Amino acid sequence: MNAIIRRIEELLCLESQRFPALTPKNKMLHSHRPFGSRARRPRRRFLSMDTSSDRVPRLSLRDFRRGTNAQKLSFAGALGDAFRRYGFAVIVEHDLEQGERDAMYRQAKVFFAKSDREKNRFAVAEGIRGYTGRMERAKGYDVCDLKEFWHVGQENPPSDCPLPEAYPPNLWPNAFDQKATMHYYRQNESIAFDLLTALDLYVGEEERKTLAHAAQNGNSVLRFAYYPPINTYANREIDAERAKPHADVNYLTLMPMPMVDGQNVDHSLEILRPGNTWLPISIGSDELVIDGGDMLELMTGGFFAPTIHRVVNPADATKARYSIPFFVHPRPEVLLASVAKYRREGLPPPMRAYDFMMNRFRDNALVAS
Ligand SMILES: [Fe+2]
Repeated sequence: MNAIIRRIEELLCLESQRFPALTPKNKMLHSHRPFGSRARRPRRRFLSMDTSSDRVPRLSLRDFRRGTNAQKLSFAGALGDAFRRYGFAVIVEHDLEQGERDAMYRQAKVFFAKSDREKNRFAVAEGIRGYTGRMERAKGYDVCDLKEFWHVGQENPPSDCPLPEAYPPNLWPNAFDQKATMHYYRQNESIAFDLLTALDLYVGEEERKTLAHAAQNGNSVLRFAYYPPINTYANREIDAERAKPHADVNYLTLMPMPMVDGQNVDHSLEILRPGNTWLPISIGSDELVIDGGDMLELMTGGFFAPTIHRVVNPADATKARYSIPFFVHPRPEVLLASVAKYRREGLPPPMRAYDFMMNRFRDNALVAS
């Protein structure tokens, strides 16, 4: 265990040298024993950190799942660095089968092709489960995004959960294969657990795996999102977009390549960079783009801040887009308070994850105020 702690020290020491302007991290290094005091010059190099251009790092989850201890630590270092610098990372070799993903897209396509009348039969759970038509607004905007979606949640909530109302039952219209969908959900949960374990390692909670454990049997949501062709919105507001700039509310978001007919890569996700510039993220077929949300920020005292991002309208107004993000949530009763000793000033007081989520749903006009 001492050897592992020494490696973390090395890893954090290197990160602080490369990003001296990140003062919250430096403060954390000072406050977070035993970091810093016995740090030595690292012998490893980081994975896939392309510092020659402004490009979100691309990391192999296989290194963390099946690699040596050194590879696991290197992955954790690179992931933490990516989240500190970009709020995003691209994951490859994640074990999510493309065949399963494509089956999810096929069923989404079948469902969203139905009439509004048919789809609205399943609009019963205020954005928490089932169907939601065009009604979500990004926090702070008056115009609804140009999208609709379907939510699937945890089927077997923990028996000791004090908030069973946070886990309403899923709805299963014919278009969706329950068994295959829940298998896909579990695959995403498993990836999320490993990613959170790596972030635990990065912030120094390696033994307790605090972030990861809070998400076990959490209130995570698999979203089937449909962005109809822009030309189907004949009377849309002039400034309406597929997704206005926003930060995700949850812990983590995992998203495979969106499906647009005839495209092998999607470029419509953009993240906000310093200087108010937008950086498009190219998502290829074997890739999973991930980002941290507001809940991760609160659980790390502001150490991992979310990055504002958006989905821009396409040049071709006849093309639909489908995406299947997995929104990772902690259990609903988890108090969103820093698991580390670090806490940035200006954060809201600790709140239960369920209350935080419902407040955001009100901000997004999904739930009545
Ligand atoms: Fe988002």
